[in-house]
Amino acid sequence: MSQLAEPIDQLPAVLTVDGLDVTVSGGVRAVREVTFAIGRGEAVGLVGESGSGKSLTCRSALGVLPAGCEVSGGRITLGAAAGAEPDTALGPGAELTAFSRKQWDAVRGRRVGAVFQDPASYLNPSLTVGRQLTEQLRVGAALSRAEAHTRAVELFTAVGLHRPEEVFHQYPHELSGGMLQRVLIAIAVSCSPELLIADEATTALDVVIQAEILELLQRLRAEQGLALLLVTHDLAVVAESCDRVLVMYAGEIVEDGPTAEVLASPAHPYTEALLRVASIGAWGRRELDIIPGRPPETGAELPGCRFADRCAHAVARCTEGPVALHSLDGGRRARCLRPAGLLGEATAPVTEGASV
Ligand SMILES: Nc1ncnc2c1ncn2[C@@H]1O[C@H](COP(=O)(O)OP(=O)(O)OP(=O)(O)O)[C@@H](O)[C@H]1O
Ligand SMILES: [Mg+2]
Repeated sequence: MSQLAEPIDQLPAVLTVDGLDVTVSGGVRAVREVTFAIGRGEAVGLVGESGSGKSLTCRSALGVLPAGCEVSGGRITLGAAAGAEPDTALGPGAELTAFSRKQWDAVRGRRVGAVFQDPASYLNPSLTVGRQLTEQLRVGAALSRAEAHTRAVELFTAVGLHRPEEVFHQYPHELSGGMLQRVLIAIAVSCSPELLIADEATTALDVVIQAEILELLQRLRAEQGLALLLVTHDLAVVAESCDRVLVMYAGEIVEDGPTAEVLASPAHPYTEALLRVASIGAWGRRELDIIPGRPPETGAELPGCRFADRCAHAVARCTEGPVALHSLDGGRRARCLRPAGLLGEATAPVTEGASV
């Protein structure tokens, strides 16, 4: 059942995820009815504690789930070029595995690009990085060998690699982590995708390189009209670079809304707790996963709200029945029975190490 009662925003969607369920380890429900849309050129941040289902959600949209994990429900739709009818990548309830390899090849790398945390593992160690980019360009953009070479050097320049002709002939082991991530970004955007998914793409890099890569993503976004799904543990990154933020908890989206509004007045107690944790000490440079208590076991079936036992605002009815993702004013959504009461209201402090 769709939870998108009304359009999230006015932009035509490049990606719509509707009621996505993903199971791991032969049936454990790790992602639950995840529903969101990303508009053309929009930057959306995806945050949440470790294990909340961020990567499984991204990988579902790329058709690259790990072995043993599968889409067990929902629908993922890719938008088409302006004015065209959207393509339905999956029928309602269909599993991603039903999407043929050929169909995925037409989407992955061409309409949706991706960069992950460990660039080295996505590159072939025995081929030069130039060869890997030209292969993508020849297959994905149907360029000749000479055209692909010229375009590859342009792309390496565009992603800020100095001496791109030299880099072209180098092997992955000859490049630093930051350079490899730039190569991966060049490959990811080489066929002008509508959406780039960056799953903790800067987490393993030092702070200076991290800032440069984020700046690069913003520049590519402006130049190519690229939409961005940015998974991060850093709320400062979300504040700086995302129009909208999605907050995941224990497999579910618990909050969604424009970044400035959500960060200024969170509607879900989990978001509020994340912000309080981030505001202790250096803003935003802290991991998110230090909220008191622990999330439920992956796949645990609870009668009510999955955050209730860690929530400073929980009341009896929070644990009595399922809590839906409610639409709020201003294009916001929250999976909380008391969101309106929280907005703008002073709430009990959440302190590090305290139990609730
Ligand atoms: N290949 C797998 N096999 C079994 N369980 C998995 C697999 N991949 C993920 N899971 C489980 O699914 C849940 C969600 O995982 P996911 O990787 O999406 O989390 P995440 O939000 O990306 O976390 P992190 O911030 O640590 O990257 C976790 O409980 C995880 O243990
Ligand atoms: Mg992850």
